[in-house]
Amino acid sequence: MPGPPTDTRPDVNDVLTVHGGTPLTGRLRVRGAKNLVSKAMVAALLGEEPSRLRDVPEISDVGIVSGLLDLHGVSVERVGGASDDGLELVLDPRNVEQAHLADIDAHAGSSRVPILLCGPLLHRLGEAFIPDLGGCRIGERPINFHLDVLRSFGATVDKRPEGLRLTAPRRLQGTKVQLPFPSVGATEQVLLTAVRAEGLTELRNAATEPEIFDLINVLQKMGAMISVDTDRTIRIEGVDRLGGYSHRAIPDRIEAASWACAALATGGDITVLGARQGDLTTFLNVYRKIGGAFEIDDDGIRFFHPGGDLRSLVIETDVHPGFMTDWQQPLVIALTQTSGLSIVHETVYEQRLGFTSALNDMGATIQLYRECLGGLPCRFGQRNFQHSAVISGPTKLHGADITVPDLRAGFSYLIAALAADGTSRVRGIGLIERGYEHFRDKLDALGASYE
Ligand code: EPZ
Repeated sequence: MPGPPTDTRPDVNDVLTVHGGTPLTGRLRVRGAKNLVSKAMVAALLGEEPSRLRDVPEISDVGIVSGLLDLHGVSVERVGGASDDGLELVLDPRNVEQAHLADIDAHAGSSRVPILLCGPLLHRLGEAFIPDLGGCRIGERPINFHLDVLRSFGATVDKRPEGLRLTAPRRLQGTKVQLPFPSVGATEQVLLTAVRAEGLTELRNAATEPEIFDLINVLQKMGAMISVDTDRTIRIEGVDRLGGYSHRAIPDRIEAASWACAALATGGDITVLGARQGDLTTFLNVYRKIGGAFEIDDDGIRFFHPGGDLRSLVIETDVHPGFMTDWQQPLVIALTQTSGLSIVHETVYEQRLGFTSALNDMGATIQLYRECLGGLPCRFGQRNFQHSAVISGPTKLHGADITVPDLRAGFSYLIAALAADGTSRVRGIGLIERGYEHFRDKLDALGASYE
């Protein structure tokens, strides 16, 4: 597994030289979803017995969370790997202990997952220390919802120069929470805290992403009592004790969609084993609308360019079941190859379109706007953020020297470089390892030319 990066800034000396212009063709497998696996690993901390998590991807984010758990006395053992069943982790939380402040601080800036350790650590130890958070720089990404949630359970939050210290002198109490926005992380925060709090917790305006439901599956296996209503309300009855779990992570629907976009942008044909229709319904509709083709089988989905012109479209990102913000960046590369004007309105993150300027350097024609274009007004319309894009296509892309700004944009640059004529130098390629397992091996299997 790639080692944990010390932070989420690109290392510009970490370069991939890509020779574009060849359609990507072949098969690959996606493993468990990064955005479930890291949370399921944290959930293990709540149990009194060991847990087993299967189909874990060998990505650096898993290394980061393993390191954090290890600091708190949770042993993380790797079983298997490199086989069809994927990597299995055995997480043993029986010797949970307070980590040394300096050790935790060394993880500052590495990921956003540490904030989710708060609830479990408060239950197990009565206190938690959280360093400055990392994660992709795609907007402000505040943690106010998280802190409000934790305070509402009865935790005290003390902001210090080196990070946050949280304490809970007595058992956390069930509470009522209404989220201002259906935040994935804040919903997970409530779940991971409420399951062992005393009494009932009611969460309104919760996120309902498939990864949230899979986390609920994990917690239910551990002994938690959680029910979900149709109106984004989740109710949790706190229990005194949780056991371990044995679970196979849901497949990574972001990685699956990323390779689907690579097939379309390069005029190729990629079968993504492990991809599931039910997690990709909204994406598949969009893929078909712009002229992409797919065939769904029991063990995966074949994505391909059927020939002919691709069609532009108007789209906005949204929380589930809308079009995921994490699909937006790879889709934009495919949209540069469609005929006419496409509009993308990003409503989840206020700064997730900045990556397009490098695409313009490669020959794309993308103009950013501060207005909410092509859909309903969103939270960012009055806040002066460039969060709408108009893409004029099709444009032939050509090779360039580009630097990866964040995980999904990084993979998107890789797709752009593979679709472009000529040679590109993609710098900061290590960031892609945070979320795309063995992507070089997969590129090899698809016939990509790079060094
Ligand atoms: C998760 O981030 C994912 N990360 C993101 O994936 C994903 O883009 C996002 O959910 C939305 O699906 C992980 O699971 C590790 P949010 P999270 O809280 O939980 C605002 C990737 O590439 N907000 O749903 O951090 C926030 O600024 C990553 O895999 C607050 O205002 O996202 C954003 O505008 C990138 N205050 C919106 O809510 C808060 O306290 C949604 O964020 C929390 C969030």
